[in-house]
Amino acid sequence: MISDLFMDHGNPLQIERVRALDPLAADAALARLPELNSRGDVPTLTAMLRDLTPSLDAVALCSTDECLAVMRDLGMLLGSLKRHDTEPAEAVPEVVPVLLELGRRTGMIPRDTVHHYTTWNPTGERQRSYTGDPQEFCLQDSVRMVFPQLRQGLELCDMLSWTDPAEQKFAAVLDELTDLLGAMVDSIDMVVKEVGPAFFARVLRPYYENVTLAGETYLGPAAAQVPLWLIDLSVWASDHSRPEYREFLRHSIPYSLPRWRELYDSWLHAPSLVTRLVAAFGTDPAVTERSEPQLLESAEALLRLLRVIMVFRGRHLGIARKAYQEDLRLFPVGSGGASVELLKQILDLTRDNANLTRGAADGKKAAS
Ligand code: HEM
Repeated sequence: MISDLFMDHGNPLQIERVRALDPLAADAALARLPELNSRGDVPTLTAMLRDLTPSLDAVALCSTDECLAVMRDLGMLLGSLKRHDTEPAEAVPEVVPVLLELGRRTGMIPRDTVHHYTTWNPTGERQRSYTGDPQEFCLQDSVRMVFPQLRQGLELCDMLSWTDPAEQKFAAVLDELTDLLGAMVDSIDMVVKEVGPAFFARVLRPYYENVTLAGETYLGPAAAQVPLWLIDLSVWASDHSRPEYREFLRHSIPYSLPRWRELYDSWLHAPSLVTRLVAAFGTDPAVTERSEPQLLESAEALLRLLRVIMVFRGRHLGIARKAYQEDLRLFPVGSGGASVELLKQILDLTRDNANLTRGAADGKKAAS
């Protein structure tokens, strides 16, 4: 049984610790990745993965932080080999039990995730990257800069799940969440400005392909693993979603952190914030009359939140459409396993839920 403390991935101190670690003494080898990748040097990449793969005995001596750093570094080679059409588990079979053990020790999937590729990746000279291109660094930074806010935001959603929409606190916490999610808009604005759709489609996207390990397929370290969908689950998606989006969430959740999987389990079958707020407007007239001003404040706050999410999703859909247009793309779907059409559907669902909230609040205003 793994303790919760053990699984507190993503706190700022732990992030700094993991970034500083180089348990495989791989700094120099991984600095060569851009050059090896640019000439598709599969024999050297294979030899590097074989040489860096630690024994299971060595893994047993690693701390949790070291296991995360080992996974981060092996992961860079998994993605690189796959980019050159080589299944890493076929080229270096001895890596498989090590990856399985690293996944078990860290409570995560047995390959690297976007957390390894961004949050736990050192910055500066030691930064691991597939290409060494500033556009790749920008994409890594764009994800790095939103994780602390989403981590905090998810805890606020947890607080909201047991806060009465008629309490003043409900609107206040929602506004705090809205401020945090402003980072998603800053992030996508930076990417739209700095990352060319063609560079993403032709150069970067192939490194985020899935790999097969012990008969299971695991997606690459995609930005789609940023858990905005988990915020959705608490705000509206637990009971106002569609099968395709529910399925995307179900597939994405194994790639997230242990604490977030706990939140997923507790929200999946619970009424969403939208549902609770709309229901509160419709309860006993005497009760709602007393709480009406506060409920209207809560609805306004919820609308402000959904608006920020829609701004992110609108701009994100724009760049996704460009990068996945038919004459540019190499892959029909994103590295998170979903299509651009799904992104449009999620944006529409977000808007539908904003309309539902607005409808309930306007109905109340008209009746009073
Ligand atoms: C060149 C830049 C980008 C492109 C082309 C792109 C493309 C896509 C695509 C096609 C999907 C569908 C799922 C999948 O990947 O299979 C997706 C999902 C997603 N992406 Fe991106 N993306 C980009 C950058 C970003 C950035 C910078 C972020 C956030 C920091 C982000 C966050 C998300 C999220 C949260 C989802 C899940 C769906 C949602 O919540 O709306 N993406 N992206």
